Amino acid sequence: MIRPVDVLLEFLQAEQARGVTHVHLDEAARVSLREIFVRSKGGQAPPPRPPSPDPTVASVAPPPKPAEDLLDDGNDVPSVPAATELVVGGGTRAEKLESLKRQAKNWAPAKALGSLRDVMVFSEGNPDARIMLVGEAPRHQDEREGKPFAGPAGQKLTDILKAMGLTREEVYISNLVKFRPSAPRQTTNNRMPNAEEVAVFLPFLRAEIQIIRPTCVIALGEKAAEGLLGLAESVANLRGTWHELEGTAVRVTYHPSHLMQSGGDQQTKRQIWEDMLAVMEKIDLPISTKQQGYFLPKA
Ligand code: URA
Repeated sequence: MIRPVDVLLEFLQAEQARGVTHVHLDEAARVSLREIFVRSKGGQAPPPRPPSPDPTVASVAPPPKPAEDLLDDGNDVPSVPAATELVVGGGTRAEKLESLKRQAKNWAPAKALGSLRDVMVFSEGNPDARIMLVGEAPRHQDEREGKPFAGPAGQKLTDILKAMGLTREEVYISNLVKFRPSAPRQTTNNRMPNAEEVAVFLPFLRAEIQIIRPTCVIALGEKAAEGLLGLAESVANLRGTWHELEGTAVRVTYHPSHLMQSGGDQQTKRQIWEDMLAVMEKIDLPISTKQQGYFLPKA
């Protein structure tokens, strides 16, 4: 009798022979594989999990594994811990976010990386916001103040929101990664989060979006765009149009730090502003003629 696992092995070996090194597993495939694994050990298959996306349950899976890892005898130590389930409790949005926050604090896959600092900076803002902004990871000052975008980049962000007629309290601000990435001999210097750090916290970010259900998400910078949309492209290529993530509109724009690094040039300011005008339109905010004209070259 041909067993399903033999068919799977044959398929993976054929893929490997073609030079394929990674296979993508969706939630259904992971459940099936888990069942096969449990049965092969003579155990009971676990009860099926509800299909994603379910706003109350999210799962974190290790990054796609090489085909040969799927075929191994299980003796290797995995570089990323096994799948861990995130269960969202609470009734209101605020309670659900609080439940996420509690779990993020001791999130085993993140701890296992050993590359993040100890102070958590989860998010800030209005759980009922129509706009959610996503950055990279907390930095020195954010860690000190316990809130995202508390430093100079945050001041720029506050200015952008003000120009839109909004305050920080009206929006929801979060990051891909909830702890400041550590670096050797670290003082005030910051490091970009790496792919593993982003991957372990992605279920939280997705759950935050499912809970808040904003009208739109603004991805600040290339890293946030890649983390959210899986698109490894420059902001120049991704901005200026709407993207979609599980039914939520996503606008990519330059990170406020980019604005500071570019010396605040007029063209970058205008491009960010055009993205913000699109966001204002999306949430039906009134736009004055003066606002329409911000950062346009003087005639
Ligand atoms: N502070 C944050 O919280 N996120 C960023 O991306 C940058 C600064």
